[in-house]
Amino acid sequence: MSDTLKIGKVSIERTAALAPMAGVADRAYRLMCKKYGAAYVVSEMVSAKGICYSDRKTAELCTVTDEERPMAVQLFGSEPDFMAEAVKIVLDYAPDIIDINMGCPVPKVVGTGAGSALMKDVKLAAAVAEAAVKAAGDTPVTVKIRSGWSADSINAPEMAKALEAAGAAAIAVHGRTRDMFYSGESDMNVVKAVRNAVSVPVIGNGDITDFRSCADMYERTGCDLVMIGRGSYGNPFIFREIAAQLRGEAYTPPTLEEKMDVMLEHIRLILELSEKCEELAMHEARKHAAWYMNGYYGSAKFRGRCYQLSSYAEAEALAAEFIELQRQREINKV
Ligand SMILES: Cc1cc2nc3c(=O)[nH]c(=O)nc-3n(C[C@H](O)[C@H](O)[C@H](O)COP(=O)(O)O)c2cc1C
Repeated sequence: MSDTLKIGKVSIERTAALAPMAGVADRAYRLMCKKYGAAYVVSEMVSAKGICYSDRKTAELCTVTDEERPMAVQLFGSEPDFMAEAVKIVLDYAPDIIDINMGCPVPKVVGTGAGSALMKDVKLAAAVAEAAVKAAGDTPVTVKIRSGWSADSINAPEMAKALEAAGAAAIAVHGRTRDMFYSGESDMNVVKAVRNAVSVPVIGNGDITDFRSCADMYERTGCDLVMIGRGSYGNPFIFREIAAQLRGEAYTPPTLEEKMDVMLEHIRLILELSEKCEELAMHEARKHAAWYMNGYYGSAKFRGRCYQLSSYAEAEALAAEFIELQRQREINKV
């Protein structure tokens, strides 16, 4: 297996990439995942129409910093003309890749004919992709899809072929149908079928939570890159773990103390990058703090307390208390 993958002119290490996650994978999150080994990151989805109407928030979402590269800006939309116009605007932010979201299941997006609604209209999906490809010049355009709309309409391989013919430089597939939203199991067979259907790189996505599941995705589907979403919650280390083990290097998981240090580093970054005051920016940080504490003794109770954090000092004190709780538990066990 080669160590790098080319999407157009962009080289990406064949370890694991961070999936786009609206409301979660913002710049602070992407920077943390990049620091801990993500091979490639994708922005939160941005509305193509919103960009055309120069929404201030959308401009903020399109910005790419050098530390995040290689990075894609992800757009959603169902109208080829708006998509082309949006791509031209996004090119000013110099993303390495432009990705189009054809997998989002939420009614607000699907209701406009975008996201996974495009899985039901392969012709329109291809027209949207083609418009983006033409507008993007030599910046590669990729598309992220689901396995299909519903269990009786699995069409990811057919969709991928049409998108490849429209000029897509890679296809990312999440092995769930739209109807499943995020429940049930992601189907690796669909990823494999897509891999067999097209010649462009295929990115496998869905339910990767550690090195073992990542290696499985590579082995069972033959995909070119693996993409991780929820498995990175409170766990940017997953990228380092996977990269090390794929290279056959020893990997030592972080201690709780290291995890709490990284949690605080993540919170500092959220505060630094936010335009909001500390108290409001801490609202953003709360869910991340809770995720870093997941899986330990007493984490359910601490989750509730994370959701009340309103300053960095409180987060620091809570992390120290959490470490002390685990230490006491170890002592009492002996
Ligand atoms: C909170 C959340 C937000 C998401 N936002 C996006 C998005 O903006 N664009 C997109 O293509 N997929 C989005 N997804 C889907 C993920 O990129 C990914 O396909 C899905 O979570 C399955 O991968 P996982 O099992 O590794 O989480 C989102 C998922 C979650 C949980």
